[in-house]
Amino acid sequence: MKPDVLVAYPLMPAFMEELEATYTLHRLDKAEGPARAALMEKAGPLCRAMVVNGHVTVDAAMLDRLPALELAACSSAGFDLMDLPEMTRRGIRLTNTSDALVNEVADMALLLMLAARRRLIEADAYVRSGDWGRQGMFPLTRAGAAKRAGIVGLGNIGQAIAKRCAVLGMEIGYSGRSPKPGVDHAYFPDPVALAGWADVLLVATPGGAATEGLISAEVLKALSPEGTLVNVARGTVVDEPALIAALREGTIASAGLDVYLNEPTPDPDLTALPNVVLYPHHSSGTRETRDRMARMTLDNLAAFYAGKPLLTPVN
Ligand code: DGY
Repeated sequence: MKPDVLVAYPLMPAFMEELEATYTLHRLDKAEGPARAALMEKAGPLCRAMVVNGHVTVDAAMLDRLPALELAACSSAGFDLMDLPEMTRRGIRLTNTSDALVNEVADMALLLMLAARRRLIEADAYVRSGDWGRQGMFPLTRAGAAKRAGIVGLGNIGQAIAKRCAVLGMEIGYSGRSPKPGVDHAYFPDPVALAGWADVLLVATPGGAATEGLISAEVLKALSPEGTLVNVARGTVVDEPALIAALREGTIASAGLDVYLNEPTPDPDLTALPNVVLYPHHSSGTRETRDRMARMTLDNLAAFYAGKPLLTPVN
């Protein structure tokens, strides 16, 4: 008999076929309105595992409908809409896929840093529009790999960013809850001090209540007028109105963003600014990485049903 699995968020089609071949799927992701309640009523008590994603809210009310749940296999790195303490309290394990996307997201952080500082998008438009021919040389920009990279959150993604910045010859500092053992980059307990030291502030910390508004107006003020903010973490980590003001008033030079407070329709006051390079929360959006993330989700499920250790447990 195939085990019952709740699908709260789908994997890519090829991986759904594999999932379907191995498990009896209950497709909450496809159910609308009253059909959702009916599905939860019928299938909720049967499912020991669910496939989910960081875009899904998993709260106590949902968990109440899933009394047999032991594993939430999350296909994304982020899980900030999930009540992890409540899941842990109920003995429900969570796995995620951050190991699968580290390099892709770190690459995007560097791409955003370089593009913002070298004004790549504006320069591209300058060539296409013919302004180059009409107006002459594009203005000078700031060095792409400035002297000092300040990394907020030196987890696995932050460390991958640090490695890349080191290759570019940048000095590295970081902030976080505590110094990382065995890491010899400069540690700043306070992000304001880190921003005061850095030329580029790269944000790679998890989202959620603990980091909400961490990059505050005060942090942005500490960054120099030639400084750049890069955010590949979550929109909630940055005080976005303060960022818009800082970019507009030139108290910082530029920003490169993959994430926003309002997704998928970020604040038009932000998207209208010329000194910000924008990406649509798609740092991990390559075929290779998304395949790895889906595979990791399936492998965690398989390990769970085989009674083996989970590959990438969060709790
Ligand atoms: C993640 O995996 O958390 C990425 O941000 C994509 O949602």
